Amino acid sequence: MEVVIAPAAELAELAADAIAELLDRRPEAVLGLATGSSPLGIYDALAERVASGRTSFAAAHGFTLDEYVGLPAGHPCSYDAVIRAELVDRVDFAPGAVRGPDGTAADLLAECSRYEAAIADAGGVDLQILGIGTDGHIAFNEPGSSLASRTRVKTLTEQTRRDNARFFDGGLPEVPRHCLTQGLGTIMEARHVVLIARGEAKAEAVRQLVEGPISTRWPATVLQLHPHATVLVDEGAASGL
Ligand code: GLP
Repeated sequence: MEVVIAPAAELAELAADAIAELLDRRPEAVLGLATGSSPLGIYDALAERVASGRTSFAAAHGFTLDEYVGLPAGHPCSYDAVIRAELVDRVDFAPGAVRGPDGTAADLLAECSRYEAAIADAGGVDLQILGIGTDGHIAFNEPGSSLASRTRVKTLTEQTRRDNARFFDGGLPEVPRHCLTQGLGTIMEARHVVLIARGEAKAEAVRQLVEGPISTRWPATVLQLHPHATVLVDEGAASGL
């Protein structure tokens, strides 16, 4: 695991560099996209590079990590809408090139299997961007998640619902209780994982991720077993190391 401690703006550029280099080498690359506030700087940097003609997503594909269950299609807090606003609509992906698990599917279990199969059919994820929750979750793999888990339905913890309530107009009562999420086993199959964390609120999760024992108590610790994981942290997030 490579850990880089730098100011947030620099971290975003480093991650954007890794993605741009991948797209140069392999224009049809498969990217794993994360929502949340952590990757926003990366997406800004990528949008700038596309606008200035330095990189292109025209042949690339993307898979998002997770989705709330039960939000109507197009709800501004659905991760599908969020990733469109934050990245997809600002760069030059081909129509339909980015997909996520469908939290409105009538048969959620079948949707989870379909999603796993779609990732496999695309050849797997070349580079996966990740944030981390304050409780050490990645995607929506909350503490207690099996380290070998696959895409499935999960119950959100109260902590995560509270952390994410700020995005919903109606606050906590509006935050769904369930989600679909790629599993830790799914994420571990990405060929390169780039996790970004900013701010002191993430310090304990980052300390566990880098220095703690591998445990379902802190799901992100599974990344210690990944052959190519890059952890990008600002001083606040690194303050527990
Ligand atoms: C959500 C997402 C995660 C994300 C986490 C942290 O729970 N499901 O993928 O990493 O939030 O969010 P933020 O980056 O806003 O702190």
